[in-house]
Amino acid sequence: MAKITFITTDNERITVEGSSGSLMELAVENNIKGIDGDCGGVCSCATCHVHVEPESMVKKGQANETENDMLEFDDQVNEFSRLTCQIEVSDAIDGIIVKVAG
Ligand code: FES
Repeated sequence: MAKITFITTDNERITVEGSSGSLMELAVENNIKGIDGDCGGVCSCATCHVHVEPESMVKKGQANETENDMLEFDDQVNEFSRLTCQIEVSDAIDGIIVKVAG
């Protein structure tokens, strides 16, 4: 079981727990504001964009090529950007903190 903290665009911190599926699915299940997952997780909408907090960078993994291509079109992109539909929920990301890109 991994604990993940989302920081919404209103600066609300919401910690949720999950053990499988994508981080986008976990966010949508928990009604995290600003994570819509419009494309259903196939990396073609960027409505699941977050900025990984710097202290969690070691756990975030690398964005894949399709993800980077998608992020290129998002105004809010920066070095901390990931699409949550491309992050698998597992113990490996326990404690990660991500900020909704908005
Ligand atoms: S849910 Fe569409 S890109 Fe992640």
